[in-house]
Formats: sequence, C-alpha cells, structure tokens
Amino acid sequence: MKKFLITGAAGFIGAKLAETLLKHNYFVIGIDNLNDYYNPQLKKERLKNINALKLKSTNWRFFKIDLKDLNSLENIFEEFFPDIVINLAAQAGVRYSLENPLSYVDSNLVGFVNILEMCRRFKIEHLVYASSSSVYGANRDLPFSENQPINHPLSLYGATKKSNELMAHSYSHLFNLKATGLRFFTVYGPWGRPDMAAMIFAKSILEEKIINIYNSGNMTRDFTYIDDIVFAIVKCAFKYPEGDEKFDFISPDPSSSFAPHRVFNIGNSNPINLLKFIEILEENLGKKALKNYAPLQPGDPVETFADVSKLEKWIDYKPTTNIENGIKNFAEWFINKGYLF
Ligand SMILES: NC(=O)c1ccc[n+]([C@@H]2O[C@H](COP(=O)([O-])OP(=O)(O)OC[C@H]3O[C@@H](n4cnc5c(N)ncnc54)[C@H](O)[C@@H]3O)[C@@H](O)[C@H]2O)c1
Repeated sequence: MKKFLITGAAGFIGAKLAETLLKHNYFVIGIDNLNDYYNPQLKKERLKNINALKLKSTNWRFFKIDLKDLNSLENIFEEFFPDIVINLAAQAGVRYSLENPLSYVDSNLVGFVNILEMCRRFKIEHLVYASSSSVYGANRDLPFSENQPINHPLSLYGATKKSNELMAHSYSHLFNLKATGLRFFTVYGPWGRPDMAAMIFAKSILEEKIINIYNSGNMTRDFTYIDDIVFAIVKCAFKYPEGDEKFDFISPDPSSSFAPHRVFNIGNSNPINLLKFIEILEENLGKKALKNYAPLQPGDPVETFADVSKLEKWIDYKPTTNIENGIKNFAEWFINKGYLF
C-alpha cells in the first residue's frame, strides 16, 4: 500500500481526499497550518470528520505545520518516507491576492519550492500538485485546453500557479521527479470554502442579504463537484507520467514534455451561467436572492470552460455529478451545517 502525504489536508479538497484514501485503507499523513484566511473552525470540523472515521489510528497522522517551515517538513519526510505527495496547500483566492500578495509568495512560491526540495531529497515516487484554471488568465479561446499558451495571468494567484507548473517541470527534468499538475476549475460541494461563490451566495440568500453579481451576471463558470475532483486526483496519483520521447523541441506542445511532468485540466466541461447557478441554489434553499448587478472585478475572468479530453484519455475521467445534484447536496449540507461558517 502506498503511503500518501497530503498538504492542505484540512482544506476543502484535501480533507475530502484524505477521507477517501483512508476509507480505502491507505496510510495518510496530513499537514496544514490551519490559517485564518477563512474560519479555521471549518478546517477543524473537517479534521473531526476524518478522525470520526474511527480508522486504525496508525493510518492517519496530522501535523499543524507551515510549508515555509523546511525543518519541520524535513522531520516529517524523515519519519514517514511517503511514496506519493499531494500538494494542495496554497493561498487560494483571486480577489484576496490584490490585498495580500505576500501571503501568495510565502505559501505558493516559497512553500512550493520546499515541497519540491523534499520530493527531490526523499526520492518521492510521484508529486501531484494543485494548479488552477486561473493560469488561463486572459485567454478567450474556449474551451481552455492544455495546448494553449498561458502567458497572460489576470491575478498574482494565477501567476503563482503558473510558476508552480514551471518549477515542477524544472525539478522533473533536473531530478527525474515524476510530477502531475492539476488545473482545478471552480470546485463546489459540501464542506466547501466560505470565500467561494456557492457559500457566499447561499449565506446571503438565507440571511436575506444582497448578493453582488459581477459583470451584470454575464459570467460562466465550469463548476466541478468535489467528488469528481477527488476521484480524479486519486486516479492521477496512481498514474505516473513518463517523458515523451517524441517531444518536438522545435514546436513545443505546452501540454507535453520530454520530462516526466504533465498538466491536466479537471473541470466539469459544462459551463453554467452564474444566474443559472443562483436559480438552482434558490430552488434548493427555498428562498429568492436579492441581487445587485455590479461591474466585473479586477482579476476575475468572464468565462471558464475546461477541455478535459486529455484527462479523459489519461485516466478515463468522466465527471458524474451534474449541477442540479451537486447543488442539491451542497444546499442540504449548507442548511444543516455550512451556514455556521
Ligand atoms: N477550490 C477550488 O475551486 C480551486 C480551484 C483551483 C485551484 N484550487 C487549488 O486547489 C488547492 C486546494 O484548494 P481548496 O479549495 O481545498 O482550498 P483551501 O483553502 O480550503 O485549502 C488549502 C489548505 O491549505 C492550508 N494552507 C495554506 N497555506 C499553507 C501553508 N503555507 N502551509 C500549510 N498549510 C497551508 C490552508 O490552511 C487550507 O486548509 C489549492 O492549491 C487551490 O489553490 C482550488
């Protein structure tokens, strides 16, 4: 059985991934700094859910550690020698990167290099790391495909995620580190993030507060359900990339490499207009939203839409949760628990 180390294990995606791996009896080491970018109580509740699985205590270890703290990271790698590292810890959020840029540098750049160093020094078999649809920045050629150049980020967040892909590629080439970058597209579902649309909207609807709808509602997002994301991460974790022997150095394809490094979109490949998303949410919460139409926010893309054909080929990826069922599950959780956060 492979031993996993998950960073950001108290986060939205990390906690669900840890639960899933533990349910399949893998040994999982989780690390997270439990920062207060959003309510840390939500992160603690996610950890409680993991502990409540009542698994053999030896299968799950959690450490409150910051990725910047290289010594503590090293101690953990030395104690456990993980086989597969899944790096989900990051300073997330597009809009917050306008107010707090240094937090992105600390976690997404310094922290990420520390993870790469650990992977190199401890000869990790496979590093899977979170990238983002934000790398597509100002691109308008929809659907977004891994073949496209990604040279026009709209936010520092997007720029740090592109940097992660570049840094991982260089380690992959220099030290033969097998690495897979996953570009997530707007993940939603139970135990989600309070800074993201689903939770912001749900809270305002229930509290009868006004929702700001940017770009006058003329926005689409490729909302992707958490279970589909986690399923794909697990499948990718077990599929190690190899260098492409036929790589064309004269006309390089951004989606491939001579190094054992790949990047993939993970989206639903079915973009939904924001107003439609709110409409389904209203139906499930049994209340109408009070809407205020506002201009586009700096850093926000107008549309996201993932071409997932490469991932389909790679791991037979097929998202199975449609937006109606996904929002239904989310709303049920939100009414019972999520509104507390
Ligand atoms: N949720 C999405 O829609 C989405 C979309 C694109 C990309 N991503 C990326 O996926 C990853 C997981 O996202 P999420 O939605 O679960 O976010 P999240 O904020 O819920 O989880 C990230 C976790 O990492 C921890 N963390 C942050 N900086 C850290 C540091 N320096 N050291 C240790 N722990 C640290 C946080 O405390 C948090 O619990 C992130 O890298 C994010 O950028 C998410």
